[in-house]
Formats: sequence, C-alpha cells, structure tokens
Amino acid sequence: MNKKSMQKIVVLTSGGDAPGMNAALRAVVRRAIHAGIEVFGSENGFAGLVKNELVPLTARSVANCIQRGGTVLKTKRVPEFHEEAVRKQCGKFLKKAGIDGLIVLGGNGSFAGAKLLGEENDLAVIGIPCTIDNDINGTDYTIGFDTACNTALDAIDKIRDTALSLDRNFIIEVMGRSSGFIAVEVGVAVGAEFILIPEFPIELNKLAESLKRHIGVKMTSIIIAAEADQPGHTFELAKKLRELTSIEYRVCVLGHTQRGGTPTVKDRVTAARMGAKAVEALLSGYHNVMMAEQNSKILAIPFAKPQEATRYFSDINELDMNRMLCQ
Ligand code: F6P
Repeated sequence: MNKKSMQKIVVLTSGGDAPGMNAALRAVVRRAIHAGIEVFGSENGFAGLVKNELVPLTARSVANCIQRGGTVLKTKRVPEFHEEAVRKQCGKFLKKAGIDGLIVLGGNGSFAGAKLLGEENDLAVIGIPCTIDNDINGTDYTIGFDTACNTALDAIDKIRDTALSLDRNFIIEVMGRSSGFIAVEVGVAVGAEFILIPEFPIELNKLAESLKRHIGVKMTSIIIAAEADQPGHTFELAKKLRELTSIEYRVCVLGHTQRGGTPTVKDRVTAARMGAKAVEALLSGYHNVMMAEQNSKILAIPFAKPQEATRYFSDINELDMNRMLCQ
C-alpha cells in the first residue's frame, strides 16, 4: 500500500439503485472536500466515463439528498463496460483529467467492472456495497437492504389485513436476485408460514403436504418466496399448489417497490460510515478494495474474485426456527 497524494477523485453510482446510495454519495463528497480533494461525478454510472463526461461536485451538490431514495447522480447498467477496450479508453480519459481515485457505489456487477478498471489502468478504486439484495461476499451488510426489507414488511402487513378479512392465502414474492436474504429477513418479520429461497429448495409435494396440514387450523397462510432469478415465477407456483392442495393462493409480486423510498436509520448511518471511510482508505493508499461491515466494524477488504462475489444465505437454523414459530 503506497500512500499517494489524492487531489482529484471521481464518484459514481452504478447498477440497481438502493436506498441509502444518496447518503453514501453525500458522505464521500463531503469527506473528500474536507480533506481538500476536488470531487467529480460520473452521471449514469460508468456511462459518464464512457462518454468522457464528468460533473464537478461541491458540498452543496449533495444537499438535501440524505433522506431520498434512488440516486441523484443517476445510474445505469452499462453492458459495453464489459469490453476491455472501453475500460481502457475510460482509464485514459481519467488519467488525462488528472484523476487519482474512483469510488464506485453499487453491487456485484459494478464491482466486477470497477476492479478491472482499476487493475488495467493502475487507478485506485474503492467500492461501497449498495444493493438491496445483501448478496456481496465479504460484507455482512449492503446499503439498502434494511430499507427494502422494511418496505416489504409494510406492504405485507397491509396484505395480511385483507387476507384475514377474506380468509385468503397469499404468496408474496420479494426481490433478491439469486440470494434469499430479503425473503428470510422479511419472512421471519411477518411471521410467514413458509419461506422459499433458492439456497434451500423445498420439494413441491412436501410443501403441499405441509400446507394441507394448515387447512382448518389457520385462518390464512402467507408464503414468502424469493424471486430466485425468475421474477414472476410465483404465479406458476400458485397454480401448481392449487392443483396439489385445492388451496387458492393469491399472488403479489412486490418487485421494484422494494428499491425505492426513504432510507432507514440503519442505511443512512452505514452509508455515512462507509462513505467517509472509503475516502480515508483512498488517502491511506488503498486501491482495489471494497468497504465491508464485519462484526459491526467497517473495513477495507480486497474485491472478491468474480466467481466468488455473490453471497448466499446459509443459516438453515433461521429457517428451522421460523418453521417452529409458525406452526
Ligand atoms: O440487484 C437489485 C435488484 O433489485 C434485484 O433484487 C433484482 O433481481 C434486480 O435488481 C432487478 O433489476 P432491474 O431493475 O434491472 O430489473
């Protein structure tokens, strides 16, 4: 780790937006300005770099955004950034502009691009984990997860009102890409009868048998299902369960509602800590690292290898506990 002088840095928000991204952006900009660093933004994620466009950011540029969902710098999924030639061209542009460091707020896909950009162009790059999915290896927490879970919780509590009024059963599908963190957290919090996640699949016939045991015992039943890389798959699941059990399930896909909204205390505070520490990591000479929360501490750790970057839910005891509580 070579301590290098930091005079100019770029910050960008990339991939899917996550509540708390703005709070992290604010922290990066203001901590950097406090250290005498000039800060620029790349709008629409890596697309700004591809277009060779940077916008100057001041402390006022990030005023009144701590409480807002989405990202004021805008974001985009930029497929052309997978091409080495495109990244090389961005590297040249950043060098020419005198940029010493880049801070990328995003998830696994964004980190993969950021890592390559840093390595190929000898540029100091720092990632701040921002995704509602909580699925980045190396960190216990990603900014946006708590807000997304609370948004889902609020919606499901409302659905329970109508479920109870009409003695109806629901399957509620939550986001999470290929990981089940949102489904488990929300499932435990709403008292779901079943939590279905890709990490621990339940055989359909076994699920049907268990659900039949609830007939005449429980007024309603709520199943929380992770999207499991197949958004909307729960409509087919409801159909199959009806055939096997004769139980009617209404389906509600919460979808992108989980991505927006006012960030919670947990997301704002984590964003503030990670944003400030990311700048401090750059000042200390770190490059090609991501910020991570481990045992409540914020650390700088190397980016994971792309094939090991995704974190999956592994605590089967939590699912067993929920089954016992939801009998
Ligand atoms: O990674 C965040 C996330 O919301 C996932 O949970 C979901 O699978 C995906 O993004 C949806 O992506 P898009 O907004 O591009 O449809």
